[in-house]
Amino acid sequence: APDGKRNGDIYRDYIDDRNAASEDTLYATSNGVPYPHPYESQRVGENGPLLLQDFHLVDLLSHFDRERIPERVVHAKGSGAHGYYKTTDPLDDLCLADIFQAGKECPITARFSTVGGESGSHDCARDPRGFALKFRTEEGNWDLVFNNTPVFFLRDPAKFPHFIHTQKRDPATHLSGADDSTMFWDYLSQNPESIHQVMILMGDRGIPDGYRHMNGYSGHTLKLVNKKGEWVYAQMHMKTKQGIKNLTQEESMTKSPDHSQKDLYYAIENGDYPGWDVYFQTMTPQEAEDLWENEKINVFDLTHVWPHAKFPLRKVGEFYLNENAKNYFAEIEQACFNPAHMPPGIEPSADPVLQSRLFSYPDTHRHRVGSNYQQLPVNAPRTPYRIGNFQRDGQMAFYNQGSRPNYLSSIAPISFRNRTVDLSSTHGHFIGNAVTFLSEIRPEDFNAPRALWERVWDEGARERFISNVSGHMSTCRKEECIKRQIGIFREVSDDLANRLEKATGIKGYPGISDLRFNGTHNGMARDKNNR
Ligand code: NDP
Ligand code: HEM
Repeated sequence: APDGKRNGDIYRDYIDDRNAASEDTLYATSNGVPYPHPYESQRVGENGPLLLQDFHLVDLLSHFDRERIPERVVHAKGSGAHGYYKTTDPLDDLCLADIFQAGKECPITARFSTVGGESGSHDCARDPRGFALKFRTEEGNWDLVFNNTPVFFLRDPAKFPHFIHTQKRDPATHLSGADDSTMFWDYLSQNPESIHQVMILMGDRGIPDGYRHMNGYSGHTLKLVNKKGEWVYAQMHMKTKQGIKNLTQEESMTKSPDHSQKDLYYAIENGDYPGWDVYFQTMTPQEAEDLWENEKINVFDLTHVWPHAKFPLRKVGEFYLNENAKNYFAEIEQACFNPAHMPPGIEPSADPVLQSRLFSYPDTHRHRVGSNYQQLPVNAPRTPYRIGNFQRDGQMAFYNQGSRPNYLSSIAPISFRNRTVDLSSTHGHFIGNAVTFLSEIRPEDFNAPRALWERVWDEGARERFISNVSGHMSTCRKEECIKRQIGIFREVSDDLANRLEKATGIKGYPGISDLRFNGTHNGMARDKNNR
């Protein structure tokens, strides 16, 4: 090149240019040719047709035609920001991940979201909230793809697409749950393992007041491995430093559709940086077996929590969000969070829903953003070492690893880090026969929902719950679904079911012992042949 720059430098300058101010740029077509004005379409005479040679116009329109990428199939409406995490209380006794050693910190990107609605939908929907973080650790990116609730609607991943379809628009009427809740209650009343999540969703935490005032939970059990190769099960809790704040159903109707986006953006813009404390609950494998033996809580069951009293929270660090995206699409919409991204020392458990998610996210990212999505600046790891591997080419290969060999070469060898953990010490042998009914309903499924109703909530919270559920049920077109759902609520509490019957004017089933479910075996069936 005339000024002595090599092509690589020119490319890097180009990347830096993306943040230049408008005043420092010159109007040009996508191939860099200066153009006098954006509104100058070429036409034959005063009233003639346009000219195909007008590359400027073709360039403009054809790029516009391709502006949209698929929105996320779930969690399409979201808000995000950048910040940093720091370890305040090292966890090195339990976990060898570099990020949990004393004094470690890393840059992060967060994206919060609702679940069911489309990209333009209302921020104040009664819906769980997504709570996704990308920790750019010195050992690669760790994506924490959490929700604001500690449990989920299901424990068999095969149900996820069915459940989500009931949260979307009806295929015939094209109406959403806001106008017609029939699909919603049809699904829930056939899949009672959803009850714990339904309680939380219909309770006070069902509509957080923006994203700054909610907690995040891994929900799933993870595994932490230390330097000696010992491991424990773990759950993560992110507790808001701003305090929990929710909206009532009535308050939510008065808010703008972008309430959470505005709240997060302007808090950061005004220097009021939101923060969260990061905690772990941990459990040894033996404690996990005892928990199953004594309380029938399976650590791989996403519909259950670990009781705080038995498994106290241990603080490890905190994070803050202190920087808005300069460009929402580039830095938030194109961000790809994948629960399979974990640094050494953090491993997935055998939770079947988590195991399925490990596949589903990178699969959708390749579809939604493209096969080289990891090369986009927001997704690219920032490690102190240069990353080398043998992935090459594909669409938009921005960073194609230059002239380095694309195979394991002995002529130009790549270096390797020593193994930090012996895999055989952390992965037991999983044996046994195939089991397909992951969701069978047991009496223990109702203990945690009952604790919420009887112990955690006050009278005001109970009243609001009844009003939220009965209000929601008022647009359900099938009384049978409501009768079944009241039967499920009766297993939680007679008091709850009685109040709901009064509020809806519908007499429900007296429990689930005589119900059959199309979504699961009924382990509480009176007639064992009627499961
Ligand atoms: P505790 O009885 O020790 O504490 C109750 C917890 O309930 C609080 O710590 C708070 O969680 C959470 N909570 C308070 N209000 C609500 C609400 N409106 N909706 C949902 N959760 C609320 O907890 P236990 O461990 O004995 O569990 C009791 C119940 O608390 C469970 O059945 C579960 O539904 C709920 N819960 C439990 C969590 C856990 O990991 N053990 C986590 C969250 C909820 P937080 O401190 O996280 O804000
Ligand atoms: C987003 C699948 C359960 C949290 C997504 C996306 C898919 C998906 C395909 C879109 C991702 C993208 O386009 O980038 C699934 C499947 C599940 C499941 C198949 C169960 C079988 C869960 C659970 C949680 C969760 C249990 C929380 C504990 C999230 C979050 C996002 C998301 C936070 C948004 C991430 C972002 O902001 O980009 N999920 N999901 N999901 N999911 Fe799940």
